Amino acid sequence: MSNDDSAPVLVIGIGNAFRSDDGAGIAAARRLKSQLPASVKVIEESGEGTALVEAWKDSASVILIDATRSGTPPGTIRRFDAASEKIPSESFRCSTHVFGVGGGIELARTLGQLPKHLVVYGIEGQNFDPGEALSPAVEKAIAELVSRVDSEARRSSQHDVNVCLAAGCLSLHSDLVKQALEREASEAGGRCRVRGTGCMGLCSAGPLVAVEPDRLLYRDVKPEDARELIQIIN
Ligand code: FES
Repeated sequence: MSNDDSAPVLVIGIGNAFRSDDGAGIAAARRLKSQLPASVKVIEESGEGTALVEAWKDSASVILIDATRSGTPPGTIRRFDAASEKIPSESFRCSTHVFGVGGGIELARTLGQLPKHLVVYGIEGQNFDPGEALSPAVEKAIAELVSRVDSEARRSSQHDVNVCLAAGCLSLHSDLVKQALEREASEAGGRCRVRGTGCMGLCSAGPLVAVEPDRLLYRDVKPEDARELIQIIN
């Protein structure tokens, strides 16, 4: 059994914890780090665009959290699916970076380096002066923001384990591989959903198993590999 790629779910809290509400994304990330499972990586970034592109380069599923300055009431939470649409960059210009969150996303889109799933959560700030305290409205909204990102990150860390059941892999007993994976996934507690799929076009490397959203591809999988494979995914 061998695999070709690796990509954890990544949450990035963006901002400056010493500029009041600009630190809302950092505050949310610190709370999430203490409660999310190890399958979700949580980091902090200042919001410089090229640093963000570098940070997410190995991740298929990324959630960004940043303060906004858009004129909506303080504490307003907005969610953008940045993988499929442009975010309103002007709302995310809280930091001093000329090339910020929106710039990083569009650069990655142009270069074909956008994560497969990229969601941006914005929380509207009120005070961006030097200081470490969040405004009361922002502080109040952080709990809801953390809860929403927590749910989305946990959902994203669910894995689909796709076993090729087309003729080439089936002749190499991929049906037995699927059964063994189902057994192990069930014993491991249900974070993996095992499914049969059609030909993936790599028939000589079968039996083939593809894991999403991680973009992991396992070749020459045998039923006796099932336990190790499920442990790796979990
Ligand atoms: S038959 Fe499995 S990849 Fe083609």
